[in-house]
Amino acid sequence: MDLRLNDKTAFVSGSTRGIGFAIARALLGEGAAVVINGRSDTGVEDALRRLRTEFPDARVSGLVADFGDPAQVQNLLGALDEVDILVNNVGLFGLARFEDISDDEWRRYFDVNVMSGVRLSRHVLGGMIARNWGRVIFVGSESGVNIPADMLHYGATKAAMLALGNGLAKLTRGTDVTVNTILGGPTYSDGVADTVTQIAQAQAVAPEETKAAIIGANRTTLLQRFIEPVEIAQLALYLASPLSSATNGAAVRADGGVLTAMV
Ligand SMILES: NC(=O)c1ccc[n+]([C@@H]2O[C@H](COP(=O)([O-])OP(=O)(O)OC[C@H]3O[C@@H](n4cnc5c(N)ncnc54)[C@H](OP(=O)(O)O)[C@@H]3O)[C@@H](O)[C@H]2O)c1
Repeated sequence: MDLRLNDKTAFVSGSTRGIGFAIARALLGEGAAVVINGRSDTGVEDALRRLRTEFPDARVSGLVADFGDPAQVQNLLGALDEVDILVNNVGLFGLARFEDISDDEWRRYFDVNVMSGVRLSRHVLGGMIARNWGRVIFVGSESGVNIPADMLHYGATKAAMLALGNGLAKLTRGTDVTVNTILGGPTYSDGVADTVTQIAQAQAVAPEETKAAIIGANRTTLLQRFIEPVEIAQLALYLASPLSSATNGAAVRADGGVLTAMV
């Protein structure tokens, strides 16, 4: 199937590894031009090297910025040319007791997980509407619908992201621009793999054992395994494609069946 992405340019926030990298890689595989992002020169350069090795003809470049720092975001926006596809992927996550989450940590979560999408969308949406074509995709989470008690800050920001995506879609009325959110489920990204390894080391067990225990403790997953980043990327590809033209303002699941509600 031709996803008709080879004349498009995309920016993917937080894409040196994990789900963002998988999305950047998938878009390059479809012939799109892609701008990746991460917090450090070395992280971005390493990701660019891996992508250029796999796709020698790729039109791929990188912009370094920490979405927790508004000044760095401002610099990134100044360097970001017109894009057809914006993937708001960057996001922090981590277990924390509600009592232990400081105001600064709440602000950091909102800056990285929500304001990144606000700032980037504000920068590109007007141009997409003026050109009458564009795609804004938020990489959200089932945790934004079913808020985890041990990750309230994460769940609250993912709920805000869902609201933002739905609201922004209303600004696209009558155009060929769409704004949609992916509700991802437990995905074995690099960040999650790091966490699993840390837990396994602390418990002196093998990472595979910890990985199986986490999925075993998830009472609703139909998939019964972690999702692979490429499985999220495949849905992102569809939402980025002109083929998804009738899907707008939606929350589309790639959650492995974790959410139990019918709609
Ligand atoms: N993994 C899951 O189970 C899961 C489930 C549902 C939704 N999601 C969502 O998917 C998205 C990606 O998660 P992931 O699991 O793929 O994460 P990950 O493996 O930890 O990768 C995070 C990426 O974001 C970059 N990054 C982190 N903080 C950044 C910042 N402040 N500014 C700019 N870049 C930053 C990292 O690059 P550098 O380290 O090079 O800076 C890296 O490329 C998040 O929004 C997350 O909420 C994940």
